[in-house]
Formats: sequence, C-alpha cells, structure tokens
Amino acid sequence: MKEKLENILKEAQQLSHHIKNSEDLENFRVKFLGRQGLLSEIIKNIKDLPQEQRRELGSYFNFVKSEIQKIYDEKKEIILKPKTEYFDPYHPGEKIDAGRINLITKEFNIIREIFSKLNFNIEIGNEIVNEYENFDSLNIPPNHPSRDLWDTFWITKDLKNKNLLLRTHTSAHQVELLKKYKIPCRFVVLGKVFRHEATDQRHEIQFHQIEGVSVGQNSNISELKSVLSYFFENYFNKKLDILFRSSYFPFTEPSFEIDIECIFCNKKGCNVCKFSKFIEVAGAGMIHPFVLKQAGIDYEKNFGYAFGLGFERLVMLKYNINDIRYFHSGDLRFINQF
Ligand code: PHE
Repeated sequence: MKEKLENILKEAQQLSHHIKNSEDLENFRVKFLGRQGLLSEIIKNIKDLPQEQRRELGSYFNFVKSEIQKIYDEKKEIILKPKTEYFDPYHPGEKIDAGRINLITKEFNIIREIFSKLNFNIEIGNEIVNEYENFDSLNIPPNHPSRDLWDTFWITKDLKNKNLLLRTHTSAHQVELLKKYKIPCRFVVLGKVFRHEATDQRHEIQFHQIEGVSVGQNSNISELKSVLSYFFENYFNKKLDILFRSSYFPFTEPSFEIDIECIFCNKKGCNVCKFSKFIEVAGAGMIHPFVLKQAGIDYEKNFGYAFGLGFERLVMLKYNINDIRYFHSGDLRFINQF
C-alpha cells in the first residue's frame, strides 16, 4: 500500500510538468484528488486495515495528499492568473471597414478633371426644373410631338403657375447657364436626370448625363469632335474612333448621334456592339439659334455646340457592367467591387 502511495506521488510529480492549461489542470485534479481519483481509492482500503497499520499509512497518506495538493495549487496559480497585457507592435491590427467613394462619384471626379483640363466650368444644376427650362426654352413647345422623346415625371405647378418636373435631360440648364456666363464660354453640367419609362438592362428611371456647352468663335463641329476625342481617349485610356451620325434634336441644328468604336472588340464586331462595331454614347449638335436667342445671345454673330453624354453607359463600358440597374440598387456586392 505504501508503495502504491509512493508511485502515485511520483506519477503526480512527473505529470505536473505537463500541465499547460486549465484543461490539463482539471484532468490532474480529477485523476489524483477527485472523488473517484487514485487517492480516494486508497483511502477506502486503508479504512479496512488493522489499527496499527492504519495509523502509519494514514499519516503517509496525508503527506502524499498534501504534496499533490501543493502541486495542484501551484499550477493553478500560474495557469489561472490573468496574464498581464503587452503591446505587440508587429501584430496586424484589426481591419476597419471604412467605406469608400461610390463608383458614380469616383467616375464623376475623373470626368470632371478631364473637362477641367479643356477649360470647361463644372455645373450641377437643380434636379427639379420648370417646363420652360426643360422644354420651351429648348425649342420644344407644348403639344409638339418632339416632347414625346422624353417621358416625363411631372410634379406640380410652381408659384408662377409653370409646371415643375424632374429634369429629363441636363440640356434644361443650357439657357440658364448661357445667361450666367459671358461669351465665349464653356461649361459642363454633371447631374442626375429622370425618365418615366420601363426599366431593363439598359434603361433606368434615373441616370446621369454630362452636358457640354461651348459658345464662342471656335465652337464649331471640328472642335466638338476634337473635344470629344480628347475626352474619350482620356476616359478610356485608349485612342478610339468616333462616328457622327446625323440625327434630330429640337435644340440643335445640325444634330448628331455620337458613337465610339466598341472598346471590347476593336471594331471586329461582338455581342456588346451587336456586331455594329460602334456603340452609341451621346447626342450632340450645333446649338439652335432659337436657344441662343432665349439666352439673349446675338445668334447672327455667335454660335456654339452642345453634347449630352450618357454617364452610366460610359462607366458600364469601362468596367464591363452589364446592367444599368446596379448603379442605384444599393447592393453592396456591386458597390464594394469598385
Ligand atoms: N439632351 C439630349 C438627350 O437627353 C442630348 C443632347 C444634348 C443632344 C445636347 C444634343 C445636344 O437626349
């Protein structure tokens, strides 16, 4: 029996070197000091011994038990004591999700910079305008069929009893801004416009336009073409062919639709350009004398050009985005990609 106790103590001493965490500590306690542990086992046997032996073994038992208890207490102290904190300058910090600039803002900033280099002033304009600004001042009288080119969100009547609406195009600011600037002038209006129409991959009820206006001696079609070439080349970082197709807008004469060479297939034809090799990106033309007159400009002596670029369409081409509805969806899976 005494030998058994000696072995138990030896084993406990050896095991004590392997106690590394609270789990080891608990296993140690259960094994030696627990109710069904090795020592409890022994004490049961000691009880049945004759008195003489019982006394002798009893005191040795107490010695072994207190030794093991000591080991346990010492280890417990080390393991369960709260560790002092220390600062590790090399530990990688916790990543903070700080948010980012939205794709629309990011691209607007790039576009704004390109036009600034070309000496265009940057304007934003109001999203709510009146009927005169959006239509009449642009040679689109009431009941004229050309109004149907823009499906309109009408709002209410303003104080002067003119209908208010959400601007359907940034051209709504042409007259207002031509009045503000002295001739010659150059400005772009960057802003959101609204159309009351069914949505699909290429149409959204709200999107952005970049309206460019230049009035002055050199504001002719060849300058328009060079300004747009410069813009596309800098925006897409690539030389691109531009195509002017004749078109109709009530506020420009002559008018054009402007296409750029498909940036995906380099004019070989692909699904994106529907094998036409070009993609439509803007409307443009020489400003109609009617509009210049509205702004109080002598249209005999002055002329200018205007263009309206579809902002989302450009960004979609640049980043290969296949659905315009992502822009305003607020979907973080989309936003976080940029
Ligand atoms: N405002 C026209 C549109 O939204 C585009 C345009 C702008 C056309 C300027 C000619 C000149 O369709």
